[in-house]
Amino acid sequence: MADKKIIAVVGATGAQGGGLARAILADKSSVFKVRAITRNVSSDKAKVLADAGAEVVAADVDNVESLKKAFDGTYGVFAVTFFWDHFSPEREKQQAKNMADAAKQASVKHVVWSSLDDTRKWVPLSDNRMPTLQNNYKVPHFDAKGEANKFFLETGIPTTIFNTVFYWENFIYFGQGPKKGADGKLVFSIPMADKKLPSISTEDIGKCAYGVFKAGDEYKGKTIGIAGGHLTGKQFAESFSKAFGEEVVYNPVTPDVYRGFGFPGADDMGNMYQFKAEFEEVYCNSRSIDLAKKLNPDLISFDKWLEQNKSKIPLE
Ligand SMILES: NC(=O)c1ccc[n+]([C@@H]2O[C@H](COP(=O)([O-])OP(=O)(O)OC[C@H]3O[C@@H](n4cnc5c(N)ncnc54)[C@H](OP(=O)(O)O)[C@@H]3O)[C@@H](O)[C@H]2O)c1
Repeated sequence: MADKKIIAVVGATGAQGGGLARAILADKSSVFKVRAITRNVSSDKAKVLADAGAEVVAADVDNVESLKKAFDGTYGVFAVTFFWDHFSPEREKQQAKNMADAAKQASVKHVVWSSLDDTRKWVPLSDNRMPTLQNNYKVPHFDAKGEANKFFLETGIPTTIFNTVFYWENFIYFGQGPKKGADGKLVFSIPMADKKLPSISTEDIGKCAYGVFKAGDEYKGKTIGIAGGHLTGKQFAESFSKAFGEEVVYNPVTPDVYRGFGFPGADDMGNMYQFKAEFEEVYCNSRSIDLAKKLNPDLISFDKWLEQNKSKIPLE
C-alpha cells in the first residue's frame, strides 16, 4: 500500500473528479491512491471519499500556495476548473495557471488537464456568424480552457490535454432535458439542426481519466478527446421517447433563439452549440468513442444511462 503512487484529484467532490476518485477507489489492485482535493474537508461529500479510503486535502484553485502543498509528493494531478461557478474566462485561466505552476513546483510526473477547444481557431473574433462575448471570446468556457493549455505545456511536465464533452447529467442538473410545452407535449430543444452532439456520462469521464493514468506514458504529451456517443437531437428525442414511454419531440431551435433563452450563460451555450453544429466533422472527429472504450471498457451508451437515470430528469 505504502508505495502506491498518489493522484491528486481536483474537483474530487464534483462530477469529473468524483468519477475519477471513485474509479481509483473501486480498483483495489490499483497502483494509484487518491488524494481528494476540496475546499472543505469536513463536507458530507468529502467524508464519503475519506470513508472510501481517499486522503482528503484542502486546497483552492484560486490559491496557488494551497495547491503547492496539496500536490506535494504526488505522481499525478487531475486538473479541472469550474467555469460555471463564476462565468469568468480570465479567472478560469488563472486557476489553470495556478494548477500548472503548483504541479511544476511539486515535480509532478503526469498531469491530466480537463480541457476544451479554443473555438477562436475556427471562428476568429472577426467572424460575425456568432457574437463575441466578454470582449475576447466566442465560447468563453471553451476558449479559456483551450488558451490555458499553454500553461501546462510550458511547465514541461508530461501532460495529457483531455478534451471532454457534453454531460448527460446536464439533463438532470442543468435544465437541458425535455420540457412540457403549453400543449402538455414533451419537447427537447437544442440548436444542433441535424448534426451530431458528442456526449457522455460524467462517471465515464472519470473512468476514462483513470484509463489515461493507468496507461503510463502512452498519452503523456498528447491531446485526446472522448465521447460515450455521437447523437443527433432527433436520436436523443427518440431515446427519451422510448425511456419515458411518451413522445418527445425534437425542436431544433436556431442558435439565435437559444442565445435569447435568457438563463445565465445562454449566450455562451448558444455559441457553443453553433460551433459544434457548424464544425460537426472536426468536433466529432476529435471526440472518439473507440478511444473512450479503450480507456474505459465499461463505457455506457446513452440508452443505458437513461435506463439508470430517467427518474432523476425533471420534465417541468
Ligand atoms: N456540463 C458539461 O456538459 C461540461 C462538459 C465538459 C466540460 N465541462 C466543464 O467542467 C468543469 C466543471 O467540472 P465538474 O462538472 O466536474 O465540476 P462540479 O461537478 O461542479 O464540481 C466541482 C467541485 O470542485 C470543487 N471546487 C469548486 N470550486 C473550487 C475551487 N475554487 N477550488 C477547489 N475546488 C473547487 C467543489 O468542491 P468543494 O466544494 O468540495 O471544494 C465541487 O464539488 C467546468 O469548467 C465546465 O466548463 C462541463
